[in-house]
Amino acid sequence: MLDNKVGIALDGPSGSGKSTLAKKLARELGYVYIDTGALYRAVGLFVFRRGIASDDRESIVPLLDEIDITMKLVDGGGKVFLGGKELGDEIRTPEISKYASDVSKIPEVRAFLLETQRSIARENNVVMDGRDIGTVILPDAKVKIFVTASDSARAKRRCAELISRGENVTYEQVLEDMRWRDENDRSRKIALAVPAKDSAILDNSELDIDMTFEAALKIIKGKLEES
Ligand code: DC
Repeated sequence: MLDNKVGIALDGPSGSGKSTLAKKLARELGYVYIDTGALYRAVGLFVFRRGIASDDRESIVPLLDEIDITMKLVDGGGKVFLGGKELGDEIRTPEISKYASDVSKIPEVRAFLLETQRSIARENNVVMDGRDIGTVILPDAKVKIFVTASDSARAKRRCAELISRGENVTYEQVLEDMRWRDENDRSRKIALAVPAKDSAILDNSELDIDMTFEAALKIIKGKLEES
């Protein structure tokens, strides 16, 4: 990261409200919002479309030479393109969530996506949302926040989000998927979804989005004044 660019790393488990928070913060601060999960989802979608199992590492690694994933700035946010085509809700289905979680365990996939993430942060002030931003992608980020919430609070939010998108899901199903994905994300040996040592922890189980936003803004202002 260039010294004159500000990186804000927002890490945490799925359903913690990171992405809503990151978008709101980016808008407030005039920074670029980067959803790094979308990059893993794009790889997952590509693998899925090829009919390859999400845990078939031997088949997936050689495919990386063929995948054309780019991130471009559109309306103040990083948009992900696969083969030149902008991706939308097709990467948000439960099936592609599972694929994304599995492919994200493959070290070669993580290495493949690393420079895309760093290069955007080198050129822009960013609010970057992910799992390993504070620990691996931007270890020198000026602000690091680990956003978390109880699994029932996260499942409730994720369920409402999927239903609003027209997905046919139940709370129990979403909670079960979320626990599976948490465990899958946590148990991998690389890039654990854990807070960086110098990360502030923001538990928003009992907070709504406005309260979470105010709490995050306070942390950010404090850190930026320090630096
Ligand atoms: O944030 P998300 O739910 O859209 O991410 C999809 C998957 O990608 C998630 O299961 C974990 C993985 N991921 C990751 O390993 N590292 C990141 N920086 C972002 C996401």
